[in-house]
Amino acid sequence: MTEAIDAAQAQTNGRRERPADARTPTGPFAPEALDQIEREVAAAFESAKTTAELDAAETAQLGRKSTLAGLHQQLGSLSPAQRRENGRALNEMRARLEAILARRRKECAAAERVDRLAGDRLDLTEVLPEAGLGHIHLVVRTQEALEDVFVGMGYEVAEGNEVETDWYNFEALNIPPDHPARGMWDTLYLDWGDPQSVLLRTHTSPMQIHLLETRELPIYAVIPGLCHRRDTPDASHLSSFHQLEALVVDRGITFGDLAGTIDTFTHAFFGPKIRSRLRPSYFPFTEPSAEFDITCTICEGSGCRTCGGTGWLELGGCGMVHPAVFEYVGVDPEVWTGFAFGFGIDRLALMRYGIHDLRSFIENDARFIAQI
Ligand code: DAH
Repeated sequence: MTEAIDAAQAQTNGRRERPADARTPTGPFAPEALDQIEREVAAAFESAKTTAELDAAETAQLGRKSTLAGLHQQLGSLSPAQRRENGRALNEMRARLEAILARRRKECAAAERVDRLAGDRLDLTEVLPEAGLGHIHLVVRTQEALEDVFVGMGYEVAEGNEVETDWYNFEALNIPPDHPARGMWDTLYLDWGDPQSVLLRTHTSPMQIHLLETRELPIYAVIPGLCHRRDTPDASHLSSFHQLEALVVDRGITFGDLAGTIDTFTHAFFGPKIRSRLRPSYFPFTEPSAEFDITCTICEGSGCRTCGGTGWLELGGCGMVHPAVFEYVGVDPEVWTGFAFGFGIDRLALMRYGIHDLRSFIENDARFIAQI
């Protein structure tokens, strides 16, 4: 009734003045009732200790099912004057409560950040009972284990430079300028004089040429080393990575020797359950060329997510040394034949130690390193 009278008065006076009693002295909009709600909501925000607790408090106190939302809904049934007055009181209260919420959010976020940093912190002054010994990097450990396998088969271990010329990295490997196969390697060039001729080696294969130039034949050699490509690092790629190259040149070397050598080394390195297989492929410096796979080290061949259900993992490339390569370095391909293969050591370390992301190897995260 009072609502109707209020409304009528407002109409007849022709003025939209604030009636003195627009805020009901009793009932849900009474000032004490609203103060009570405001105190409760503010207390809920003040007592939330984490961002998650604050989120929950916000939903409970300001959300669709909150007491405050209920009051907002009740505004609809009030007279226009009361609705205006009480609506304003509600909005002001909401603004004050939101200010408290915003302040509490900042405080909680700051406290959580401090906790996080404290959790990550290394105490450099901590006195340990024993000095922690460092250890050999997993990739280097893998490389050394591979070298041992090949040394056991009578191979020499050779090393080369990471900076190469275009001639060794490409041309003498039967990849002349403008050869479409150059697209297989995203090359980083060094601007030393001729900007197109000095580069960071994209693979260890240029060492085939250096060995053919400098060694007496026959050659049985493996060459581990860092290679670089213009590549964005992700879980299975690094822009600087290790390869192991193998080169064998002797009289009467056949494709059968290549297949047998790869199979022998996979057994020796991974154990008797791991086999190898060859698939036809293309590399400019070998003919015929192949890619080689090994039995998936995770599922041992039965098929799993890592191997895409095939039971096999791709490891590297291989083939018989192309006669054109022999001709570049003055070796008679009628007398000598050979095979070569190359694969990534980092990925092999990944498989061997069950690591999921190649980047873990280079990030120096103390938590990763300490586990080893
Ligand atoms: N160099 C090749 C690469 O990095 C891999 C490779 C393929 C090496 C065939 C070889 C080979 O020795 O015969 O993609």
